[in-house]
Amino acid sequence: MQYIPQDGHGLRYDPFKSLTVPRPIGWISTRSRDGVDNLAPFSHWQNVSGRPPTVMFAATQALDGGRKDSVRNIEDTGWFVWNMATWELREAVNRSGLPVPPGVDEFALAGVTKVPSVESDVPRVAEAPCHLECRYLQTVRLPGTGRDAVDMVIGQVVRVHIDDQVILPEGKLDIPLIKPLARMGYYDYAVVESVFEMKPPDPYVGDVL
Ligand SMILES: Cc1cc2nc3c(=O)[nH]c(=O)nc-3n(C[C@H](O)[C@H](O)[C@H](O)COP(=O)(O)O)c2cc1C
Repeated sequence: MQYIPQDGHGLRYDPFKSLTVPRPIGWISTRSRDGVDNLAPFSHWQNVSGRPPTVMFAATQALDGGRKDSVRNIEDTGWFVWNMATWELREAVNRSGLPVPPGVDEFALAGVTKVPSVESDVPRVAEAPCHLECRYLQTVRLPGTGRDAVDMVIGQVVRVHIDDQVILPEGKLDIPLIKPLARMGYYDYAVVESVFEMKPPDPYVGDVL
């Protein structure tokens, strides 16, 4: 089959989000100007670059047509934290995606514990094994009709936290132990449980690890 997105796909379920899979989850914590802590998952999340370490996530508009709380908080305060979503934390991740009013503390809603950050007053999810403290760089506002307008938020990673227990003696992260959670299309998820290594062919002239 083939289709033009604005004309419709003819399938029972929209296949688009099942194409770029699995998508890592940006489990983003923020604090509002009024001091309310917020937590929400975004599967449109990625590294923009490794050097300097730069990340992004993209949010559609909230049910009331305005910016989502995460975006508003980041633009107001200049800070956000990425918390690593894992298989063990899957229910908390799911709960934190509920649309709730800005005054609700979503750490409590998700049932997770707060641990302070170093660079800002945005709390981190204590149960997550890794965190990125991010300084807000800019929002790229993509045009769209109504809730389909997209805010692409870009941030620079200024501090990285990794639980020592997920670092292998050889110095790599133990990904099968962490079991990172990823989003597929529909309400489907994936979990990374196995890793294979494939070295570049010789002669290799790229970056060293
Ligand atoms: C696993 C998962 C992934 C999600 N990914 C996105 C996304 O990429 N973009 C988006 O706008 N909303 C996404 N959502 C919905 C938001 O999490 C939801 O709108 C949330 O209420 C936003 O919170 P906020 O208003 O506190 O920022 C996702 C929800 C779940 C459960």
